[in-house]
Amino acid sequence: MPDWPACTLDEAQLGDLELLTSGVFAPLPGFMGAADVAAVTERGMLADGTPWPVLVTLDVPANAVPADARLLVLQDREGSPLAVLSITERLAESRPGDGGGPAAHPALVRLAGRVTALREPEHGPFRQLRRRPDEVRDELGDGSVLAYTTRRPLNMRHIGQLRHYAGQLNARLLLLPLVAGRADIITRPEALVRAVLAATQHLPADTLVVPVPLARRAGGPAADLRARAIVAAAYGATHLLADASHLPDAAGWPGAAKGGPVALPGVPIPVIGAGEWAYDPRSEVWRPLALIEPGAEQGELTDSELGALLDSGAEVPLWFAPPHVARELRHARPPRAERGLAIFFTGLSGSGKSTIARGLAEALTERGNRTVSLLDGDHVRQLLSAGLTFSRADRDLNIARIGYVAAEIARHGGVAICAPIAPYAAARAVARKLVTEVGDFLLIYVSTPVEVCAARDRKGLYAKARAGLIKGFTGVSDPYEEPRDADLVLDTSAMSRDQAVGAVLKLLFTGGWLADAPDGLDGSGGQGRPRR
Ligand code: PPS
Repeated sequence: MPDWPACTLDEAQLGDLELLTSGVFAPLPGFMGAADVAAVTERGMLADGTPWPVLVTLDVPANAVPADARLLVLQDREGSPLAVLSITERLAESRPGDGGGPAAHPALVRLAGRVTALREPEHGPFRQLRRRPDEVRDELGDGSVLAYTTRRPLNMRHIGQLRHYAGQLNARLLLLPLVAGRADIITRPEALVRAVLAATQHLPADTLVVPVPLARRAGGPAADLRARAIVAAAYGATHLLADASHLPDAAGWPGAAKGGPVALPGVPIPVIGAGEWAYDPRSEVWRPLALIEPGAEQGELTDSELGALLDSGAEVPLWFAPPHVARELRHARPPRAERGLAIFFTGLSGSGKSTIARGLAEALTERGNRTVSLLDGDHVRQLLSAGLTFSRADRDLNIARIGYVAAEIARHGGVAICAPIAPYAAARAVARKLVTEVGDFLLIYVSTPVEVCAARDRKGLYAKARAGLIKGFTGVSDPYEEPRDADLVLDTSAMSRDQAVGAVLKLLFTGGWLADAPDGLDGSGGQGRPRR
């Protein structure tokens, strides 16, 4: 094994690997080849005729796998070898564009073949709950089992429906939080599991919770529902409860939304459409819409309404979520004024980003209620990125490092103020992605024109670049990709440092990231006062 090539899988691929090796995807022996992909897509079965509705494929960077490799070790991010893939097929794949440069588009290759597990996976939160399907089936026994798969926290409507349909079927409840990928509203998979566990306090005592690393499937709601049902059936469910949003277009699958169990094509167990329910304020319960006096019903909070509530620190209403769940929601998505944040300045050398960043750091530190770290471009290059050049690859690495540190700061609830040139959109997107996993990210484009930056030329670098003494100088002989996704644009040729800092503070206040109004925004004559 030491000489075999190894490939580190991403979160979704690790999830599929775990589902293959644990038996959730049985009888699938490994990742699918072209014939199986075609047969599943066209006929909902494997090429050998075995009914199977879900695509399970593995696309990896071509340069990670030598062309003549027959065996490939599949490992997790810590480098633990989890399984061996016996490669039976290798197909070049095209990757959908993500707007990035060459670094964002490594060529991909689709590998197919049987996987053999080397060890139990160790990664992922709530490992002790992530049990094997045979074990769970044994525990559930022969009775009816109603499963519900979810990427979002359960609210009172879910709780009401789960109790109702489980009662109707006389079934035990099996909750399967789907933990590969971003959870709705609260982002982190561990937060999703915590919220689902909190909801079980309002469900029958024998309700079982098993987190499952099923990633979102390409192919729309029908493909996603089939995958959810495959997983539920593997864990011993006899029925699957599906929200309206899980159900494909009702026209495609008539009957699915009616509220009774229906057999859907390619779906291994009957599906119960959860139907339209609403809150009845008169009897203070959630019930089918049809049972509520017309006009009295109260609808569910939308994701954006709930998100806005949590962002502002307002209470989650009891009619929507029970206190235990609300507490998990608040914990996972604290008010913006307390949440980790990266304020990422980008702009040419001499544009004024370091000056504004420093002024902003001082203004926030003076206010005293946030911990602020300043990651200035020049400063970062002295230690964190010492030795890196100004090649595209090194600049991208520099920004990825800044993004990584900013994300760690945000994870701990701090404010990271970053001020590199960051000339490439793809690298900025990498930093944004890292931070938004754990907190908020604001991009501020300091758009001071290059002529003004060059005229300032405090460090004499523009003169040297124009004389050809510095090669690849941003704005002179190297590109700068203007951001199209900036939250704020500041041109320091038309405003003072204080005005620029004031504009950022205003953005922070109006967006809820500052609890107290900055001077001049509160109408009180300057000292600021609490917002709430
Ligand atoms: S990047 O592109 O984001 O990695 O750049 P950054 O880390 O912010 O570093 C920019 C500072 O390095 C100095 N410098 C150069 N800038 C651009 N291009 C070239 N070739 C170059 N060589 C040195 C320059 O002083 C930048 O500092 P600021 O503070 O932006 O003026």
